[in-house]
Parts: sequence; structure tokens; C-alpha cells
Amino acid sequence: MFNQMKAEYFHRIDETDDAIFYGQPRLVKHIDDSACVALTNYFRMVLPADSDLLDLMSSCFSHLPEELSYKSVTGLGMNKVELDGNPQLTSRVVHNLTNDPTLPFDDHTFDGCVVTVSVQYLVNPVVVFQEIGRVLRPRSPCIISFSNRCFPTKAVAVWHNLDDQDRAKLVGHYFVVSKKFGPYEVLNISPKHDKTDPLFVVCAKTAP
Ligand SMILES: C[S@@+](CC[C@H](N)C(=O)[O-])C[C@H]1O[C@@H](n2cnc3c(N)ncnc32)[C@H](O)[C@@H]1O
Repeated sequence: MFNQMKAEYFHRIDETDDAIFYGQPRLVKHIDDSACVALTNYFRMVLPADSDLLDLMSSCFSHLPEELSYKSVTGLGMNKVELDGNPQLTSRVVHNLTNDPTLPFDDHTFDGCVVTVSVQYLVNPVVVFQEIGRVLRPRSPCIISFSNRCFPTKAVAVWHNLDDQDRAKLVGHYFVVSKKFGPYEVLNISPKHDKTDPLFVVCAKTAP
């Protein structure tokens, strides 16, 4: 379905430097409270405790279970005020993945990576997924989550043209094409009751 990833798939309405759009701090949750709880419950099951984690495209909430302790949680995002406001982070990096999709970390630094409700902003997703694979240790999970909300002018064109199922397939395709991960799984972890934000995860582990 995505064998030919055309350049225009990754065009955006707003092609100005991301530093302009994200320069304004947004100290908010980007999904509702029920969806946040569902995500935290999923993280509790999948992310190893007492480990080194990477929260890529991070802001002021990492949604990690508060009762668990991690050796380190590194947040990489666009806005220093948002990252400084995130109490779960132990280190913070401001880095623009549009300008430079390589990650400023050594090989095999982390035991898990989350990209929460942000994958739709990646204009070089395959390089970023290869980089995630490089900085993760063997058998480490990478959890990509998405809902139905976004900053429309900054989401890539292909995202706007897909439904939830095909968005999950697109993210799965990023994992496959990166050649750094084993098989991926897609889960609908939306809260069961009505009127909440839907929430989907696509998760894969690096090779042994
Ligand atoms: C909708 S917010 C989600 C933030 C956070 N993951 C959460 O769950 O609340 C999108 C995030 O993507 C990050 N982001 C967007 N474009 C980026 C880029 N080019 N490079 C790095 N991070 C980016 C922004 O810093 C912003 O915090």
C-alpha cells in the first residue's frame, strides 16, 4: 500500500521552520484524561521499569506510570519551556527532527522509546525510525501512539488522507522499511466509554 512513498506525502501546509510554530510553549495535554490513563496503563505493561527511556517529540507530559522509577528518561522536543515543565524527564534536549533527523545519542543508549501523538509531524520518518533503532538496545520496545487530533498545518499530507487503520499501517510501514525492528503490533487502546479521544498504538521491538 505504501510501497511508493512519494515526496508529496510529506509536504505540509506550513513549511516554515518548525522553530516558529513550536516556539510558543503549549503546557497542555494533547489527548483527554481518559486517553492519557489508557496510555499510561499500556506503558506500565510494555516499558521495562528501572531502565533508560527516550521520550521522542516530548513536551510537558510523558504519561509514564508515576509509581514506577526509571533510571533515566530523556525528552527530545522543540520547546525548552515545555521540556523543563515535564517532571518525569531526567534530561532534556531541544532538537529539530525536520532539520536534522539524526538523534544526538550514542548507539544502544536506551531500553525503550515512546513517540506520543506526534508521529504525524515527521517529514523524514524512515530516517528517524532507523535512528530510534540505532539508539535502542536489542529487544527494546518502541511505542508509537496516535489519536485523531493534530496540528493540521504541521501534519504531513499523507496523514490527512488516511483513516485510523491506514495510519496504523503507515506507521507499521515505517518500522518495516527502517529494517531495525521485528514484527509490529497494532492495538486500539481507546477508553471503553463514549466521548473520549480514540487512541491507537503501533509497537515493535528492536532485533535480539
Ligand atoms: C502534540 S505535541 C505532543 C507532545 C507530547 N509527546 C505529548 O504526548 O504531550 C507534538 C510534539 O512534537 C514535537 N515536535 C514537532 N515537530 C518536531 C520536530 N521537527 N522535531 C522535534 N520535535 C518535534 C513538539 O515539540 C511537540 O511537543
